[in-house]
Amino acid sequence: MEVGLEHVGVRGEAFARGASSFEAIVSVVTDRIDTALMARTPRLRIVANVAVGYDNIDVAGCTARGIVVTNTPGVLTEATADLAFSLLLAAARRVAEGDRLVRRGGFAGWTPSLLLGSRVHGSTLGLVGLGRIGQAMARRARGFGMPVLYAARSRASPDVERALGATQVALDELFLQADFVSLHCPLTPETRHLVNAPRLARMRPGTVLVNTARGACVDEAALAIALRDGPLAAAALDVFEDEPRVHPDLLALDSVILAPHIGSADHPTRAAMAALAIDSVRAVLGAGQPLHPVKG
Ligand code: GLV
Repeated sequence: MEVGLEHVGVRGEAFARGASSFEAIVSVVTDRIDTALMARTPRLRIVANVAVGYDNIDVAGCTARGIVVTNTPGVLTEATADLAFSLLLAAARRVAEGDRLVRRGGFAGWTPSLLLGSRVHGSTLGLVGLGRIGQAMARRARGFGMPVLYAARSRASPDVERALGATQVALDELFLQADFVSLHCPLTPETRHLVNAPRLARMRPGTVLVNTARGACVDEAALAIALRDGPLAAAALDVFEDEPRVHPDLLALDSVILAPHIGSADHPTRAAMAALAIDSVRAVLGAGQPLHPVKG
């Protein structure tokens, strides 16, 4: 059966009209599912988040009320790693800056030092998190001859480490040793502002930060300073601390690529995410087991 989806948002009037009768919500990352919303949806049985991250949902609050929460892992792994790696390349090689230069008529011909960037191939990639997306990023890095370091709560199996050419290091060590740091961790109280002024200060001159995880994993004010005054050469961000607002100090910097939270935004991936969320709703409303329940 074809399913037509229209995003109304949990703050909208269309949602308010049906709230008291809803048994299922298919939510997206901009929908905050909190206790105030739960009080308006007494019949709610499932929140199916169309995303792998679920920091927009009070999962503990849902669980306490017997509401199942699900996410959509797996189907967006490769698309998100595609975007993260494209941001890494674009930031290192100053692609967006070049585009702006050409458009404003500033390209006066080839010169030996025009827009020199950071070297990608052979440089060390540091991954914060080695879950599905982190591993997909490591596979891409292998093709570029990049040694991979990772920081994660648990160690990957020796087989996975070997296949990815990945070595585990402590988080602080990762910031010291990597030429590129890419974030692939969920947003939790432990990872909020994980990229902070002291860690940024430890990075090597000319390094690049990529964030396709969650904006609040990075202290944006500190990042702007590290870009302006060093040691960072560039950053590429697909997510922001207070979306859709972007920190004005970042907006002012040419060395940052700013993407509008499009990590999973290719056609087949978004279709697969929606289908998975709908399957979870059907499973729960039909008294079955959803594929991807999450715990608070
Ligand atoms: C998107 O941000 C996701 O978590 O899938």
